Amino acid sequence: MPSVLMVCLGNICRSPMAEAVFRHLVQARPDGRDWSVDSAGTGPWHVGSPPYRHTLEVLKTHGITTNHRGRLVCPEDFALFDLILGMDGENLADLRKLAPAGNRAEIRLLGDFDPEGVRVVADPYGKPIERFHELFVQVERACHGLIIELDRRRLGRRP
Ligand code: 4NP
Repeated sequence: MPSVLMVCLGNICRSPMAEAVFRHLVQARPDGRDWSVDSAGTGPWHVGSPPYRHTLEVLKTHGITTNHRGRLVCPEDFALFDLILGMDGENLADLRKLAPAGNRAEIRLLGDFDPEGVRVVADPYGKPIERFHELFVQVERACHGLIIELDRRRLGRRP
């Protein structure tokens, strides 16, 4: 079953939102319990912290909750997750540097799966809550696209 790690810089705004939205979508599926979804950051400042209040507030307006606490990407993540998705080019470059030799996880941008082709999920930290509502729309769209792509790949693998 697919395992997906969402990654941003602080692990308090974008990636915890992407994790919560993706989990919410996946849980509506009959096979939802078998998917593995998490998020992590490349920067250490918010390790152990809950997501940023605007992220929590926007998720709440969509009936989505999260218990996530900030954590750093670690070497084991590259063995545990099939897919590791950064939000922007900086995350992608950091992930490529952190990846151990012989890494088999697929490292991409979440926006690679956005059907509207918006590849970068921009950092909203310090921006007004309206920016986080826009973030939700972008992230949800890309998460839908990701599910479609993962289903397509799995169908392709069947004999
Ligand atoms: P995130 O946003 O990467 O979407 O969680 C940020 C949160 C905090 C910081 C930077 C980005 N920071 O520098 O503390």
